[in-house]
Amino acid sequence: MIVRSPVLNVMMGAARKAGRGMVRDFGEVEKLQVSMKGTSDFVSSADLKAEKTIRAELSKARPAFGFLLEEGGEVGGDDKSHRWIVDPIDGTTNFLHGIPQFAVSIGLERDGELIAGVVYEPISDSLFHAEKGAGAYLNEWRLRVSARRKLEESVLATGIPHRGRPGQDVFIKELTAVMQETAGVRRFGSAALDLAYVAAGRCEGYWESGIKPWDIAAGIVLVKEAGGYVSDFDGKGDMLATGDIVAANDQLHSKLVSLLRKARG
Ligand code: IPD
Repeated sequence: MIVRSPVLNVMMGAARKAGRGMVRDFGEVEKLQVSMKGTSDFVSSADLKAEKTIRAELSKARPAFGFLLEEGGEVGGDDKSHRWIVDPIDGTTNFLHGIPQFAVSIGLERDGELIAGVVYEPISDSLFHAEKGAGAYLNEWRLRVSARRKLEESVLATGIPHRGRPGQDVFIKELTAVMQETAGVRRFGSAALDLAYVAAGRCEGYWESGIKPWDIAAGIVLVKEAGGYVSDFDGKGDMLATGDIVAANDQLHSKLVSLLRKARG
């Protein structure tokens, strides 16, 4: 039996509750897709509604903790040590287009260190969760990063900078290097799930630039607790500050960092 801390149970409960509303709203989006009217506004309100639910659930259990919210920004708490880092819908573009790959992401930081993470994919009812020192799980199953040691056998996930995002030229250089060395690159559209997939050994690694703390906070804990490594492009732990992230299994992380650094020049 898995023994989970009370705070992790709170995070899981909040993610599930927001997820239930999201499944209903996603059903509406699929209908709206046909008419194409008002989909964006509807999704923005679904996002806000989910964030409100998560915030209320977390505050109810730990009223003094602060927040970093995708929609609501930084909200200071009386307890200066603890901060929730929340993305209510990671994969908003997928949600908007009726693509069922999106997730709730809730991370918990204590004194600047990430100590717990929950990534919940409501459509498949997949609840990824991890706590520092206690391992990573998908529902009831313990997770372990993949054991593949060769880049040529590996599948990597990434995020492609879209219109209006900086770093497109650099991304092309990274992609060119990675596609020549690996078995495949995937763009799923949710950084939180990309990291959960690395933790689950589905992908050997994931990299992205210009990513926000709420997209990756929970996933970082998952990968580390599943035995993987996470860093920025300098191999340091400043992912939340720099917005650069490279995550991979223990065998391939340093190879991937070197490959990307060389490609970036
Ligand atoms: C996005 C997703 C996507 C990543 C983008 C993020 P959002 O988050 O995580 O996979 O490539 O960089 O902005 O906007 O859907 O919360």
